[in-house]
Amino acid sequence: METSKAIKTRRSIRDFKSTPVEKDVLVDIIKAAQQAPSQANSQPWHVYLATGDTLTEYKRRFQQLSQANKKSKLFLEKAQTGQWSPTEQIKMAKWNVELAQTLDGMQYIYSNSQYALYNAPAIAILTLPKNSPAWSIYDLGAFAQTLMLAATDHGLASISASEFVKYPELGYGVLDISKKEVAVMGIGLGYEDSTRQINQLHTSRQLLQDTLTFFA
Ligand SMILES: Cc1cc2nc3c(=O)[nH]c(=O)nc-3n(C[C@H](O)[C@H](O)[C@H](O)COP(=O)(O)O)c2cc1C
Repeated sequence: METSKAIKTRRSIRDFKSTPVEKDVLVDIIKAAQQAPSQANSQPWHVYLATGDTLTEYKRRFQQLSQANKKSKLFLEKAQTGQWSPTEQIKMAKWNVELAQTLDGMQYIYSNSQYALYNAPAIAILTLPKNSPAWSIYDLGAFAQTLMLAATDHGLASISASEFVKYPELGYGVLDISKKEVAVMGIGLGYEDSTRQINQLHTSRQLLQDTLTFFA
């Protein structure tokens, strides 16, 4: 696939088919993500890829904690909308409108998809060593996007979501994440269920002039 096509067609998918993804494909995608740039080639990332019974257990315990209204304990703490500038808050509000329009007001579809961890048949939990410098967060972002573009290239859909890592004890308990690491983000991978209303969400982007200041 052309790189430009992968960039343009990647979007967040929130309900996957139950079809499993072959291990070789998943390994290929992680291999591709390893090409991401990082500060002095530090490559601070590690990926814990959950599929099969391990993922079923991860989801089961996630749902138990959700039902018990367990407070999330994200590494990158849950930010309050007010922490963003007013300009960003407007864009975030627009996303909410786009979502509501897609779901025709049935917001519970979104909540259900979060609760099911989007029915993803594979989840990549991305970690960093504890106490990493902020640069490593930047590096992990590049890694994540490279991973998702490689997934698109393999015909897979994806979603990058903090929901996957809101209960760190699941990473340590089910995936045996090293106590020296923190789970920063999760990426769901699988095949899109295009019959689902929630997957009809196509997000807009701000005007180029709001992103780019060009000098000649
Ligand atoms: C750091 C980060 C956290 C996100 N967390 C969630 C999440 O918890 N739930 C969700 O449905 N989408 C989540 N998303 C997906 C964004 O909503 C999505 O990327 C954005 O609306 C743009 O849409 P697109 O990915 O379809 O282009 C997250 C994305 C990022 C980069």
